[in-house]
Amino acid sequence: MPLAKFESMLKRTMGLDIQSIGRPMLERALQERQGSCGVADLDAYWLLLQMSEQEQLQLIESVIVPETWFFRNREAFQEMVQLQQRWPRLISASQPLRILSLPCSTGEEPYSIAMALLDAGVPPQHFQIDAIDISPQSLHVARQAVYGKNSFRGEYLSFRDRYFALNEQGYALSETVRQQVRFAQSNLFAADLLAGQAPYDIIFCRNLLIYFDRATQHQAVTILIRRLAPEGLVFVGPAESALMMLHELTPIKAPMAFAFRQGAPKPEVARTAAPPLAAYVPQTQVRTPRAAVTRTAQARPAAGSAAQQQSPVSLTAAQLLADQGKLSEAAALCEQFIRQHGASAAAYYLMAVIHDAADRKQAAADCYRKALYLEPSHADAMTHLAALLQTMGDHAGAKLLQQRARRSTENNPS
Ligand SMILES: C[S@@+](CC[C@H](N)C(=O)[O-])C[C@H]1O[C@@H](n2cnc3c(N)ncnc32)[C@H](O)[C@@H]1O
Repeated sequence: MPLAKFESMLKRTMGLDIQSIGRPMLERALQERQGSCGVADLDAYWLLLQMSEQEQLQLIESVIVPETWFFRNREAFQEMVQLQQRWPRLISASQPLRILSLPCSTGEEPYSIAMALLDAGVPPQHFQIDAIDISPQSLHVARQAVYGKNSFRGEYLSFRDRYFALNEQGYALSETVRQQVRFAQSNLFAADLLAGQAPYDIIFCRNLLIYFDRATQHQAVTILIRRLAPEGLVFVGPAESALMMLHELTPIKAPMAFAFRQGAPKPEVARTAAPPLAAYVPQTQVRTPRAAVTRTAQARPAAGSAAQQQSPVSLTAAQLLADQGKLSEAAALCEQFIRQHGASAAAYYLMAVIHDAADRKQAAADCYRKALYLEPSHADAMTHLAALLQTMGDHAGAKLLQQRARRSTENNPS
């Protein structure tokens, strides 16, 4: 039976581009739903679907990708807490800071926002987080706020000791953090989305736009911009930042945070070439997602090599160019970095993210693989490559990687 009408229904209702998850996943979801509803075939299931909003929601539940974890892309949270300069009213608390996490999935993202702000010393009454997702099942988990090992990935896990208590069910989040977040079920494209709500100072909309086609992505970004306060910031996922540059949004100069503010880049900035790279080279050690990258001056290229004649570059410089949407320059700088310093998982991971953002799928996949060869437990490279392989139609490869990522988390719980 042709699946086209199911695909269009999912696109119409939730924006999903089926290419992004792969047709086999839809086929499995339909088989499962048909079985649960006890109807004879897909024609009968289609009729049922037309009559029942509840069943539409059930089908949506079986095609969503709820993948998330605490402090995913932690640079975004680090940037967000640099608030004092941007929002002086935080100190006065006359108006609490308004934050939106959409989609929030099972709650790890909005709770991470709350923990980051509390850690930065922002009093609880100075901010409020609204967290929205289309999936009632994910929201149920979010409201329970008890998490398993898979929600804690990477090496920075000290927050777990401070904000969670281990019980038989898992890690239970403290009430202090829970009370900062209000959950609600909604669809980003619902006509009544956030009706009557004031604009938000900060919007996190990460790892959702990748499931939409180009036209739907633009529609989604327009909806988000309408909800953003004039001085507000919007955070997106690593593979979604190039898209933001097509709208009236300007990247914040914060490597790997993927944060944007309203307004097109200032004409003089847009017209002139990138500032000299020396201006970007940080004075201190910088951390990329998985590995610490020491200052470039410490590395010595081979005597007489071509690399020696070029000024030393850093990955931070490449990250900044990427954040500004200068993807070709950023990729070139990564290549230069590898020539000067040798291969590293951090450099190949960044190059992969840049290729991914520029929709150069094969080049991105090759670089993710190189990063994984150099650092087999690189969690971000695994999950990004798995998502990319899905969009490239390699579902078996994607599944193997997801299993590997799960095993890796189980074997390295902290
Ligand atoms: C991969 S998770 C991202 C969660 C989190 N933002 C993060 O980056 O870790 C994607 C989430 O998008 C939700 N979703 C998909 N389509 C949606 C829509 N049209 N409106 C609201 N949420 C949606 C799914 O239910 C799923 O929980």
